[in-house]
Amino acid sequence: MKRIAVLTTGGDAPGMNPAIRSVVRYGISKGLQVIGVMRGWWGLVNEELKELDHHSVSGIISQGGTVLKTGRCPEFAKKEYQDRAFNTIKKHSIDALVVIGGNGSFTAAHYFGNAYNVPCVGIPASIDNDINGIDLTIGSDTAINTALAAIDNIRDTATSMERIFVIEVMGRDCGFIALSVALAGGCEDVIIPELKPDWEKICHDIVQGNIRGKVSWIIVVAEGAGSAIDIAKKINEFTSLETRAVVLGHVQRGGRPTAFTRDLALRLGNAAVDALLEGKKDLAVGLCCGRINEVSFKDAIKKKELKAEYWYNLIKTLT
Ligand code: F6P
Repeated sequence: MKRIAVLTTGGDAPGMNPAIRSVVRYGISKGLQVIGVMRGWWGLVNEELKELDHHSVSGIISQGGTVLKTGRCPEFAKKEYQDRAFNTIKKHSIDALVVIGGNGSFTAAHYFGNAYNVPCVGIPASIDNDINGIDLTIGSDTAINTALAAIDNIRDTATSMERIFVIEVMGRDCGFIALSVALAGGCEDVIIPELKPDWEKICHDIVQGNIRGKVSWIIVVAEGAGSAIDIAKKINEFTSLETRAVVLGHVQRGGRPTAFTRDLALRLGNAAVDALLEGKKDLAVGLCCGRINEVSFKDAIKKKELKAEYWYNLIKTLT
């Protein structure tokens, strides 16, 4: 193996840059040439590549986002686009790909890699933490800390003005960010796609709490479970208490990667290159039960099982 290419695909996540830095510098230290693919799969389709050297990744370790840019490429499911990507790979004598992204990216790498016999190794990077078999994806720790800081701020105004706040966090159809921030933020309730909400109980708890003298609540909702605006309206109609909605949105995707996110990204860049050098393919490297390990793409793209009830019960017990 002489030349590998690295790409970031799907939604950006803090920590993608340290992962790129690690792939490039560790790869070079092993005698490899490393090519950067711009804009995810689009860069292979449209032949947008650049040779990366030691200096080209200087200063990016602390930056959110991705210097290689990223994007969604649903067209890549079509053979015509895959053929174009394969032509780019052949033309530039690329022996293997490191794909930094989430489950959509791994699905594409799994099918493309097998269909065209291109060795692909994935590095899980997504704020959603929805990769099966992986404890934590690159970026999720940073996103959780960003969301938590916002929730702590909202708590100040919620208690001062005696209001209910419904705060919507990202996560697509996974409730991980919501559960994590609801627990760490001492929030009163959390609504996630994995558990059917009992609206009557949620509203009844608020009314009963209010009778006992409780005056403020923070309810976290995962975007995949509903809209904060609709839920705030529903709660206000039932309880008659002043209720506000906040959608944290893309603020969760940006920002300086935390130390945890950076360390993980740097270690996984190393592990991905090692996996390719050992002749492995069609798998992701990641933190599994606290250790750097490998998960086949086939398993990684299955629906992730969260211990949602455990988290939910703990949040409700501690509130
Ligand atoms: O996958 C990351 C994520 O931020 C999800 O949490 C969210 O649903 C989605 O991307 C938003 O995507 P976009 O930025 O393309 O609207």
